[in-house]
Amino acid sequence: MCGIVGYVGNSQAAPILLDGLSKLEYRGYDSAGIAVYDGEKIHAQKACGRLKVLSELTHDGATMPGTAGIGHTRWATHGAPTGSNAHPHFNQDESIAVVHNGIIENYQKLKKYLEGKGFQFVSDTDTEVVAHLLDYYYKEDPMEAILRVMNRVEGSYALGIMFKSHPGVLYAVRKDSPLIVGHGGDGNLIASDVPAVLKYTRNVYFIQNEEIAVLSGESISFYNVDGEEIAKEPSTIDWDINAAEKGGYEHFMLKEMYEQPQTVRDTLSPRIKGGMVDIEELGMSDEEIRGIGRLHIIACGSAYHTGMTAKYIFEGMARIPVDVDLASEFRYRNPILAENDLVIIISQSGETADSLAALREAKSRGIKTLGIVNVVGSSIAREADKVMYTWAGPEIAVATTKAYSAQLIAEYLLAIKFAQVRGEITEQQVVSYLKDLQKLPEQIEMLLSNKGKIQHFANRYISAKDVFFVGRGIDYAISLEGSLKLKEISYIHSEAYAAGELKHGTISLIEEGTLVASVLTQEELYKKTISNIVELKSRGAFVLAVTNTGNTEIEKAADYVIYIPQTNRWFTNSLAIIPLQLFSYYVAVGKGCDVDKPRNLAKSVTVE
Ligand code: G6P
Repeated sequence: MCGIVGYVGNSQAAPILLDGLSKLEYRGYDSAGIAVYDGEKIHAQKACGRLKVLSELTHDGATMPGTAGIGHTRWATHGAPTGSNAHPHFNQDESIAVVHNGIIENYQKLKKYLEGKGFQFVSDTDTEVVAHLLDYYYKEDPMEAILRVMNRVEGSYALGIMFKSHPGVLYAVRKDSPLIVGHGGDGNLIASDVPAVLKYTRNVYFIQNEEIAVLSGESISFYNVDGEEIAKEPSTIDWDINAAEKGGYEHFMLKEMYEQPQTVRDTLSPRIKGGMVDIEELGMSDEEIRGIGRLHIIACGSAYHTGMTAKYIFEGMARIPVDVDLASEFRYRNPILAENDLVIIISQSGETADSLAALREAKSRGIKTLGIVNVVGSSIAREADKVMYTWAGPEIAVATTKAYSAQLIAEYLLAIKFAQVRGEITEQQVVSYLKDLQKLPEQIEMLLSNKGKIQHFANRYISAKDVFFVGRGIDYAISLEGSLKLKEISYIHSEAYAAGELKHGTISLIEEGTLVASVLTQEELYKKTISNIVELKSRGAFVLAVTNTGNTEIEKAADYVIYIPQTNRWFTNSLAIIPLQLFSYYVAVGKGCDVDKPRNLAKSVTVE
C-alpha cells in the first residue's frame, strides 16, 4: 500500500518521479505528491485523486525544476485522502521532506511528545511524526538523525528522505515495507517496486530490513542499523519492460487474463522433467516429504482461495491433512503446530503484511516454511525456508487473475509430487495428471476466445443488486474466487456459498430474478448441486451454470450454461475460473467502473 519513488541525477527529477509513480499506482491511488529540490528550496506539489491530477497540475513535471526529488502515491491509512494528508510531509521550516509507505504504530505517543516540545502538526498522518522527529534529532549528520528515528518508531516503514542542507543526496530506509534501489546510468533511484525503475535501469539492489541507502547522482552506499557501511551486490532484472505496459488492451486486467495460458506454461514447464514432477528447487528430500504431518496453507484474498482449492487436492490426492487459514487470523490465534508440519504461505506480492507476519510466526516456532511467491526477491521469498516461484511476471491490475492461475499450478505440482513420494499415486497417474496439466494453456485460450458470449451475458447484469456463487468441494473454492472478483471490481454485492449450506439461511435472500452462478465440475457432486439449483430456481433464481462439457443434464435445471473442456477433476478450477473472471470484468466495464483500480483497494497490502 502506497508507493514511493525517488530520483537523484543529471535529469529533471519531476517527470521521472511521475513516471515512476504511474507504475506504482496499483499500490494506492487516492492522492499523490512529489517534492523536488531546486537548488534553493524543496518544493512540493500534491493532489487528491489519481496521479493524472498531479501530472496535469505540474504539466507532467515540467513546472518543477530540480534534479533530486521524492514522490508518493497514497492509499490512506491514517487521515482521510486530502491534500494536507498527501505525502511528502515536512518538518516545520520545510528543510526535511519525507515520503512513507507503512504504518508508524506509536505515532500518537510520538506526536504528543513532539507537540510537548513545540512541534506543530498540519496533517492527520502517522508519517508527519517522522519528519518532525528527524528535525528533532538532526544536528549536522542526516545518518545520525535517521538512526535515532529508527530507534524510536515502531511499526513498518519504507522511507524516502531529503535534507535541504544536503542537496543532491537521497536517504532511504526500510523495515517490513518493500524498497529497492535502482542504479541508472544517468542517476540513481529508489522505489517500492521494480516496475518503477525498469525504464531507467535493470540493476537493482534489494534493501533488507533496517538497512539505510544513501544515494547521490554518482554513488550509492548502504549502512546497517549501527551506521556501519555494508557491501551489497546488485541483481539484474530480466523482466520484459512491456510486461508492465497495457500493450493495446483496454485494461491491465484484460491483458493479464489473456496472459494466463503463458503464465500456466511458464510455471509448469520448467518443473516437468522426464515425464515426472521435478521441484528440486525446494531441496526437499523424499524422506522430508514423507515425514510431513500436516500442511498449513496460509494466505490472504485470492491467494487464500487457491489454498482452499489445494486443500481438497492435498487431502484427496496425497492424503495429507491440511488446514487453510487467512493470514490475519492465523497470526493471532495461537495455532497448534507440530514439529513435522509444513507451513505454506501463498502470496503474489510476497509483501502482504499479514502473510509475512504469519510466516514469521511459524518460523519463530521452529516450523518449516515454504513460500509460493510471484515477486522475486520479495520479503516472503527471502524469509521462507523454501521458495517456489510462480512465473506470472508483473501483475498490475488490483484484481488478480494470472497470478491466481499460476498459484494453482504450483499447488497442483506440489500435491502431485507429495502424493507420488508418499505412495498415494502411481507413476502412471503422475503421467496422466501431467498430460492434463499440459493441456490447460490451450484450453484456457479456448475459453478466453469465447469472451463474446460471456460479455453478452454480463451486459444483462450490470444493474444486479446481489449475485450468489455456489458450488461443492473444489467448486465451492472456485465460487469464493468468482464472488470476490465480481464484488471487488464491479461493487455488486455478492456472496459465495457451499451449495449444501444455502438452505441454512442464505436461500431466504433469493428473489425473483436473483442471479446465482453455480459451478459444477466435480462429477460425483453433480446430482447434489443440481438438487440445490432446482431449489433455487423454484424460489425465482436465474441460474447460470459453469460445468464440464458433456454434462448436458444441467440444461434441464439451469437457465444459461457455460461449458468448460474436460480435464482431471483436481484441475477444473484453472478452467472454470476463466468465464467467471470474464463475467466480472465485463460487468465492471459495463458499469463504467475503474477496473484496474477499484475503489478503496490496493494490490499490495503492506499494512495489517
Ligand atoms: C490484495 C489483492 C488481492 C490479493 C491479496 C493477497 O487484497 O487485491 O488480489 O489476492 O491482496 O495478496 P498477495 O500479494 O499476498 O497475493
